[in-house]
Amino acid sequence: MKIRPLKIIKLGGSVITVKEIRWSIRREVLLRLLRELGTYREEFPENQVVLIHGGGSFGHPLVKDCVSRYGKITESCYISTADSMDTLNAIVRKYSINVARIPAISIPPRTICSISSGSPRCRLDPVVAALERGFTPILYGDVVTSDRGFEVLSGDTLAWYIARDLGALEILFVTDVDGLYERDPKLDPNAQKITEALVDEVINYVAASSSTVDVTGGMMKKLIEGKLLGVRGIKVKIVGGFIEGNLYSALKSDNFVGSIVWY
Ligand SMILES: Nc1ncnc2c1ncn2[C@@H]1O[C@H](COP(=O)(O)OP(=O)(O)OP(=O)(O)O)[C@@H](O)[C@H]1O
Ligand SMILES: [Mg+2]
Repeated sequence: MKIRPLKIIKLGGSVITVKEIRWSIRREVLLRLLRELGTYREEFPENQVVLIHGGGSFGHPLVKDCVSRYGKITESCYISTADSMDTLNAIVRKYSINVARIPAISIPPRTICSISSGSPRCRLDPVVAALERGFTPILYGDVVTSDRGFEVLSGDTLAWYIARDLGALEILFVTDVDGLYERDPKLDPNAQKITEALVDEVINYVAASSSTVDVTGGMMKKLIEGKLLGVRGIKVKIVGGFIEGNLYSALKSDNFVGSIVWY
């Protein structure tokens, strides 16, 4: 498998959409981030990238509504959430190809993944096949079949899963905050930023809360999940997505606005 060195980029739904406003896209932010990735790809063609995006306002509110109304993801919620996520994904893919010159190929997670007893399982051969041809696979937070019916497989979980199974060097979580803080900086403006730490140092005191409608657990779950999936030897970067040039800097070096957490 000629796919190393591999980096996984998770574009947070919090950055590319306005999470509280349904079907809203931050078009300029999305375009800029994709252009930064495109520039990095052209400068470092030997490095491979898997692009993952979150659901933001195309995912979380739909699932939340459904669960509060029916107590679960029904068949019709599964269909409408899948449709909504495919719409967001089509926009990300088209901008990638047409604006950022990224040879992007979408791989809908629900076609390769399922969840059993809470654990995801994915067939990653389509991802590997795309990487081997020099393409950039795009995956996203999605609804998938499970032994309980239908469940959400978040973009964060996918990032960890793919990083572990394909042996990535780095995961870059691009978010609407400029790094990892002791507590949610949206709720506590005095919270201190953690610029670099081992995962075990931060896991116990980082706040579990997320101030938005995140059905997949916000920042804390992002970090714990890597531990749960047994990821080791990976550098995780929390990258401020609203700062111009910051994704490019974080891809290229450790000199960026954000935080580094070592697994
Ligand atoms: N300790 C913390 N440090 C930084 N951010 C935190 C912390 N605790 C909670 N948060 C919240 O986590 C949010 C980022 O996670 P969130 O799940 O909302 O975004 P995302 O994963 O980028 O979006 P999506 O889930 O749609 O892909 C931030 O907006 C912030 O308010
Ligand atoms: Mg999230």
